[in-house]
Amino acid sequence: LKLIDVVIELLDARIPRASHNPDMEKLTKNKKKLIVLNKSDLADEKENQKWVNYYAKNGQTAVLVDANSGKGVAESIQKIKIMMQGELKKQAEKGKIGKTIRVMILGIPNVGKSSYINRVTKKTSAKVGNKPGVTRQKQWIRLEKSIELLDTPGVLWPKLDSEEIALNLAYTGSIKDDILEKTEIAYQLLNYLVQNYKSNLETRYKLEIGDETILDLMEMIGRKRGAIVSGGRVDLEKVSNLLLDDFRNGKLGRMTLEKVEES
Ligand code: G4P
Repeated sequence: LKLIDVVIELLDARIPRASHNPDMEKLTKNKKKLIVLNKSDLADEKENQKWVNYYAKNGQTAVLVDANSGKGVAESIQKIKIMMQGELKKQAEKGKIGKTIRVMILGIPNVGKSSYINRVTKKTSAKVGNKPGVTRQKQWIRLEKSIELLDTPGVLWPKLDSEEIALNLAYTGSIKDDILEKTEIAYQLLNYLVQNYKSNLETRYKLEIGDETILDLMEMIGRKRGAIVSGGRVDLEKVSNLLLDDFRNGKLGRMTLEKVEES
């Protein structure tokens, strides 16, 4: 971090709060910071914009990115350039022309750090040679004339401060499914979706949802999808896998689990 001028904090656009590590503030003190709301393709478009506005109101720059398709990646680099313009000018006035701005990515596991770096690498030209003081394997990727990105991201552990945070991380696959029981995760997710995204469920599973219990609904989905074990019983583990996969792959539609208003 000593070598770094700008930190990119990668967050999951569906859960900007749960995917933020509170140590980030301490780690990035005295550094410029860009927030990248990744997986924005899986999050609600309206909510995405609200989050960007929320950060702007709090004096922070946030960019919406889909590291899978590359959407927003160029804009994020542009933002870094703008962020550092003043600093580069100051350096130049002191006679230090050609200062290199060094950028690093930080984020919790599975948020898309490698995907983002891969995207950037494909778009830019050659990697820069090793720098003294850095492990030999680490490479700097040139983003712009005077901006380089460390090709190794910093991994931060998510803070499991509350059950809600833990569940949101579990729904999105940011913590391993074996930390919480998979059927429990799917049950809680379905409960949340019935309350917040009922029509998405009805469309995907061709159901009409009334006042069934969550367990009833899991059984209904299981029957529709043929998740049956011998004896005709519904295989709840299969239903759970199916639900979680559908949610994580965006097959239930674009959804944001943490809204700005709840901040
Ligand atoms: P990490 O380095 O932060 O750990 O994350 P990584 O890039 O490995 O990405 C984790 C998973 O998230 C990958 O799925 C990747 O394709 C997906 N992903 C990353 N960025 C985006 C994005 O902007 N939009 C969408 N829709 N997906 C994204 P995977 O290879 O299928 O792995 P997994 O889902 O089996 O873990």
